Amino acid sequence: MDPTKTAKVITVVGARPNFMKAAPIIAAIRDHNERLAISPGLEGAGDSHFTLQNVLVHTGQHYDEAMSERFFADLNIPKPDVHLGVGSGSHAAQTAEIMKRFEEVLLRERPDLLVVVGDVNSTLACALVAAKISFDAIGTRPLIAHVEAGLRSFDRGMPEEINRILTDHVADLLFVTEESGLRNLREEGIPDGKVHFVGNTMIDSLLAFKDKASGSDILHKLSLRNRNGGHGSTDDTARYALLTLHRPSNVDQRATFLNILEGLEELSNSCPVIFPAHPRTQKKLTEFGFERFFRVENGSHEGEESRSAHADGRIRLIEPLGYLDFLCLMAHAAVVVTDSGGIQEETTCLGIPCVTVRENTERPVTVKVGTNILAGTSKEGIRQATRQQLTSRVSGAVPEAWDGRSAQRILDAICLEIQKKRLL
Ligand code: UD1
Repeated sequence: MDPTKTAKVITVVGARPNFMKAAPIIAAIRDHNERLAISPGLEGAGDSHFTLQNVLVHTGQHYDEAMSERFFADLNIPKPDVHLGVGSGSHAAQTAEIMKRFEEVLLRERPDLLVVVGDVNSTLACALVAAKISFDAIGTRPLIAHVEAGLRSFDRGMPEEINRILTDHVADLLFVTEESGLRNLREEGIPDGKVHFVGNTMIDSLLAFKDKASGSDILHKLSLRNRNGGHGSTDDTARYALLTLHRPSNVDQRATFLNILEGLEELSNSCPVIFPAHPRTQKKLTEFGFERFFRVENGSHEGEESRSAHADGRIRLIEPLGYLDFLCLMAHAAVVVTDSGGIQEETTCLGIPCVTVRENTERPVTVKVGTNILAGTSKEGIRQATRQQLTSRVSGAVPEAWDGRSAQRILDAICLEIQKKRLL
């Protein structure tokens, strides 16, 4: 390969919410290379003539099949070129271990540019390594691109908030999903020239896979739709709620977790509540002795007859789901109750009512124009918000540039930037 005609990119993923954000970028790089291969004379993205060699690095922050591999299959992500196998640990231990192992990869690969996405520990760890690395005597290092820059909850007790702020401040290219991100970065003194408003790559994935997800059989498996219901049909789909909870601030303290579960009792008496629980949450509910709130199901067809779409007051606890099954469940839910960041955005795009069990959100556009409301974590707040979302007609709009083309905009900007750097 002629090095003057090739640029090397490292894309990092580590935890579940990274996979759907990175998948469209990986696909856009593949498409760019295919276009150049068919017509080498073609002026590709950003007027660049060079092929992009993408090295996909998985830190191993998430490692269970259900938290990682299944997403690679669902989202057609190629097998990682490098797997760091880091696993779980305290924030310090996990971040440090990723940094140590990633430094070796960076020194070996010497990429032109590093792409990190979102706000997990892997995002910050790899960005920090790249910011301080030196490939030669004059301090050459890769450009750092942060996808989903500028989001702020203004709650520094949230580990992700620290990851967001620090990653943004070492990044050279900041790709922003919503208007609040532009404002936040400006207020923090980040030069406008580094910032690009591109939309949301998580929504690129949603739009790319929505049709495929409608073919999932998860509604049948959970007895929420009759077997004779047609492909994508909603007519015979039961009215149900979908729940996710995994934030340490919600599930790590017994009193807070109990409060949330009690706040959800009215909902679970009125319709089935499906809860694909994160491993952290499963551990905590056993530790706290909260089994009485749940009916544990294994998600298979076994015992299907004994299940029913009728509410019995207990939350239906299932194992974490893959991307397509979860997207299908979201798309047909009467309401989604969550403390996740990405789900607030996905429900906004799908027009599904969402109740966010948090005091703040770093994604205010989902409340401003979307279908999301912030319930806080009090019992009464949760009761009122779910009642409101179920009884009033919710209407929302899709935020600007959430149109399925964000990854292409990112690729155009990346190519231009690499080219500029080469001309220096
Ligand atoms: C991480 C992210 C969070 C994101 C979430 C999505 C950080 C600081 N947090 O939180 O922003 O919303 O991922 O899931 O990066 N575990 C398993 N199997 C796994 C992974 C984790 O059992 O495959 C268990 C382990 O007990 C681990 C715990 O979950 O200690 C927490 O995992 P960790 O990656 O530290 O944080 P998350 O809570 O998953």
